[in-house]
Amino acid sequence: RTFSIAVIDGDGIGPEVTAEARKVLNAALENDDATLHYTEYSLGTRHWLETGETLHDETLEKLRSHDAILFGAVGADPQDQRIPSGVIERDLLLKLRFELDHYINLRPTRTYPGVSTPLASTEDFDFVVVREGTEGPYVGNGGSLRRGTTQEIATEVSVNTAHGVRRVVADAFARAVSRRGHLTLVHKHNVLTHSGSLWRRTVEEQAALNPQVSWDYMHVDAATIHMVTNPQRFDVIVTDNLFGDILTDLAGAVSGGIGLAPSASINGAGTTPSMFEPVHGSAPDIAGRGIADPTAAILSAGLMLDHLGVKDAAGRIEQAVNAQMAEWAERNTGGGLGSAERGDAYVSRIKAL
Ligand code: NAI
Ligand code: MG
Repeated sequence: RTFSIAVIDGDGIGPEVTAEARKVLNAALENDDATLHYTEYSLGTRHWLETGETLHDETLEKLRSHDAILFGAVGADPQDQRIPSGVIERDLLLKLRFELDHYINLRPTRTYPGVSTPLASTEDFDFVVVREGTEGPYVGNGGSLRRGTTQEIATEVSVNTAHGVRRVVADAFARAVSRRGHLTLVHKHNVLTHSGSLWRRTVEEQAALNPQVSWDYMHVDAATIHMVTNPQRFDVIVTDNLFGDILTDLAGAVSGGIGLAPSASINGAGTTPSMFEPVHGSAPDIAGRGIADPTAAILSAGLMLDHLGVKDAAGRIEQAVNAQMAEWAERNTGGGLGSAERGDAYVSRIKAL
């Protein structure tokens, strides 16, 4: 099996961590019948400065032909006056997500060996947030009346369709089945009654189809408390675009490692390539020094293999990262390692599995 992978390594530490992810992918696939064929795309701030383009329609069409997209990070140094704020995020990241219909935004969140969390308890946890990616208040459905006056009225209407909610909830149930069998719907249906009711009815309907999954409901404000006081109670969280955006940042924070958290933007129907990327950005403060932690990019590459159905190699990456992090923790030798040293250590682990 050969898979065609688009690589957008982007700006700042994006190329540094993506290079390590590719090393680890190659090692994980060495004795596997799957092969990856890479095509590089130059997109991001550098590309914008050179060409004035964020994402040309022709490039988007080319991207559609791949099996998956491996993404590093994009984004300008906030000190750089040449780049208007938000251009790259809106015209590149959001455009990719909407055009490629990435309706599942996945952020697995867990404790990592030797990495302390800001939580009082040291007990391990492991949950995944399934955030809806194409609807909700992020669709740009709104406007402003009497703009600029003291009578201004601005609206931002959240769009929730039966089709859109059902497909992401169905995906979340499927993930719960292959995990610990529990799902939590997070919403605010006591106040947002129209969309909340649709989400709740959809979860009830899917729950009936998945009797082996237990489920509960939590208001989003309560969920922020539980994520800090008792994250062990979560297995799969399913939620809308806005709540998911906020909750996944909190999830990243409670896991204790910005350089460790992977993510995936998935088209569950498989009609367009899904995209795999670390949660972190381009980190201009450390870019070019070879010290960025490539672990998040490497775990994201593992999610990509898993999504492509290359399960054994995906498992090898996860296992190697865990074992290596545990060893660094035990021997207290992880600190101060460079990106390439970390990448090489994971590669050696994989070869030794
Ligand atoms: P950031 O995630 O790039 O950096 C935040 C802090 O975490 C920095 O101190 C950075 O040095 C550190 N950090 C991040 N990744 C690390 C790693 N792998 N190893 C060690 N330390 C790491 O977020 P920030 O500074 O808010 O944004 C910088 C640029 O990245 C901005 O232009 C922003 O728009 C963009 N961005 C892009 C994202 C993407 O491409 N998906 C996501 C988030 C931000
Ligand atoms: Mg966010």
